[in-house]
Amino acid sequence: MPYPVTLPAPLWRTNPGVQVSLAAWGRSALRGLVGGLNRWPLEAAMPAMGVLASMPALPQWESGGAGASRSPEPVFDPLAYHAPVLPEEVLHFLQPSPGKLFLDCTLGGGGHSELLLAAGAEVIALDQDSEALAHARLRLQQYGSRFRSYQSNFRYFPHVLEEAGISAVDGILADFGVSSHQLDDAPRGFSFIREGPLDMRMNREDGQTAADLVNHAEPGELVRILREYGEERQAPRIVRAIVKRREQRLFETTLDLAQVIESVIPRHGKKTHPATLTFQALRLAVNDEMTVLDEFLAQVPRWVKPGGRVALISFHSGEDRPVKQALARYSTEWLDRPEWPEPRRNPDFCMRLLTRKPVEATEAELKRNPRARSAKLRAAERLPQSA
Ligand SMILES: C[S@@+](CC[C@H](N)C(=O)[O-])C[C@H]1O[C@@H](n2cnc3c(N)ncnc32)[C@H](O)[C@@H]1O
Repeated sequence: MPYPVTLPAPLWRTNPGVQVSLAAWGRSALRGLVGGLNRWPLEAAMPAMGVLASMPALPQWESGGAGASRSPEPVFDPLAYHAPVLPEEVLHFLQPSPGKLFLDCTLGGGGHSELLLAAGAEVIALDQDSEALAHARLRLQQYGSRFRSYQSNFRYFPHVLEEAGISAVDGILADFGVSSHQLDDAPRGFSFIREGPLDMRMNREDGQTAADLVNHAEPGELVRILREYGEERQAPRIVRAIVKRREQRLFETTLDLAQVIESVIPRHGKKTHPATLTFQALRLAVNDEMTVLDEFLAQVPRWVKPGGRVALISFHSGEDRPVKQALARYSTEWLDRPEWPEPRRNPDFCMRLLTRKPVEATEAELKRNPRARSAKLRAAERLPQSA
């Protein structure tokens, strides 16, 4: 096993968010291998991505690795799992080079990590999803000890760094939300167009499922979740329908819920499915994403070296707002209020903002990866300690 799959005992024992299972790793690696992956014209996309041109030749699935079958098929196609968004922009802001160390908080399919590794940097990567880790570990094994990965929620990233003996990094990357693979994989239960169990947990070894929430939460709590996390204006109507239905029969599957929502909110020719916002809201609640994001943002500056950088990619306004506010707080030197006789120095001032406005995907990227359409990247640089 070329990479650590266990964390030091004190970390995973004391920390419910950090769980590592060797058996799960082997099982999911095997599923990925025998299940095969969709093929995507990676070779065609790579020149367009420019920055990827120097990447090593595509790895083939190894035989004899963790749970691998002896068959040399299929060809490993990294972008079929998840195409990394804003790749050139991430490289531009993080400036990876040999000798630098980056923390990738959301490893996913390993696309962003691979960009950093291919530029010669070292990467320590986290994901709470054991399947994503298994996939990315295989993909990135060619980088040897320059790549380390752990199963952990990124709210605990300081513990992981501490346990790895790292006091600060040259850059932190976070690409929030779920991967294309998670969204498209019906058994994960994120999709309102694919039948699957109503699950939506990124870490399937922990926490309550979307079915638990939909079947048992108080109606008022469900309305709050739909409003707060989905900005769903029809929240009370949808929740009334959910409650009526669960009194007769509990929800078990994704399409079951999607159909109940569609029965009270017809499409009326709209492009988006009427269950879109409800599914987004439930996913955020199930994974406690907004609390996790706040905890993460509060800890980021302490772990970036002077001159080091952060690049944070969000996909909806609920995510982008706290990112924007946190970076504004860290990059504002003076605070002023009408009741103060004079401005005061901001005790949180420690960064320089690199993006006044969020950076979005170019037309060229949207053509090859339409899922990048709502991606917003914000970046900042840690000031020298003396500042
Ligand atoms: C958008 S994907 C990242 C894709 C990745 N940048 C790539 O290039 O393939 C987000 C990943 O982050 C993981 N994730 C989301 N929230 C997390 C959290 N709080 N802690 C750890 N991993 C998380 C998800 O499981 C998913 O695999």
